Amino acid sequence: MTTMTGGPQTTETAPPTPANPFERLDDAPQEQQRRIIGYLDTVAAHPEIQRMRSAAFELFAPTAGERLLDVGCGAGEVSRQLAARVGTTGSVTAVDRSAEAISVAQSRHDGSSVTYMVGDITALDFPDGHFDGVRCERVLQHLPDPDRAIKEMIRVTRPGGRVCVIDTDWTSSVGDGFDHLAEVLEQFPFPHPSAGRTARARMVKAGLPVTTALPVTLRFTTPDDAAVVVPLFDETPLRTCVQPELVEPFLDSVRQSAERGDFLFAFTMWISLGRVETV
Ligand SMILES: C[S@@+](CC[C@H](N)C(=O)[O-])C[C@H]1O[C@@H](n2cnc3c(N)ncnc32)[C@H](O)[C@@H]1O
Repeated sequence: MTTMTGGPQTTETAPPTPANPFERLDDAPQEQQRRIIGYLDTVAAHPEIQRMRSAAFELFAPTAGERLLDVGCGAGEVSRQLAARVGTTGSVTAVDRSAEAISVAQSRHDGSSVTYMVGDITALDFPDGHFDGVRCERVLQHLPDPDRAIKEMIRVTRPGGRVCVIDTDWTSSVGDGFDHLAEVLEQFPFPHPSAGRTARARMVKAGLPVTTALPVTLRFTTPDDAAVVVPLFDETPLRTCVQPELVEPFLDSVRQSAERGDFLFAFTMWISLGRVETV
């Protein structure tokens, strides 16, 4: 991460960054892949993300002996936490489209009941009804076809089992103390900025009529803290995605806000949990 308030300025001469490296992480330059895995780690360690994840754990309620799927698992941190809950009588399958992410996740294997696999959320290599529960965090927003992914997660979940989708609603972003947020958001290429907010409706439409949705609002009081989680405040993606004539006024305004100590930013993530109907 390149910080906004005093951290090193980026001097990279790497090839141009693909608009959304999360969609095809393995196609990104090596250096960017490493940076993205590092981003997943710092995000996972952020207290606001941990607060959101603990709310998601409570709703998903994994129990001993269950067979669970964590799809779009990244470096597998949550997969291992799930494995601690299901114990030796249960199992967790951690799937990601990126071979690099799976290789990192595998290198962190802690001996628990997690199996790591490369796979695509829109074409899962499991039979119908295979899992007691499926979990998917911050993946839908990167997909060309989120509805197809939801259908597939439902397909591999047994009747009575649950599907838990956790995603961001970037359109809920609000800030105070600085200017140009709306314009920067408009230029930022989030493929599905409202993925979190629309997940429940997508799940209901796909055949999970009993879907609950819990909003968790994350808040940040310094730009450096926000940059850990929010790409708009990290200079590297900001400079890649936003027009230079907007970047400078935005950065100036954010820096001045940091100096005054009045910076404030918040956005909402949604945890949507649906049960597959029993027939
Ligand atoms: C923002 S990361 C989230 C990772 C992890 N769920 C977490 O919360 O740390 C998005 C992940 O989705 C994966 N992904 C993107 N498209 C995918 C697809 N079609 N099938 C499976 N995983 C995919 C990416 O490789 C990346 O690891």
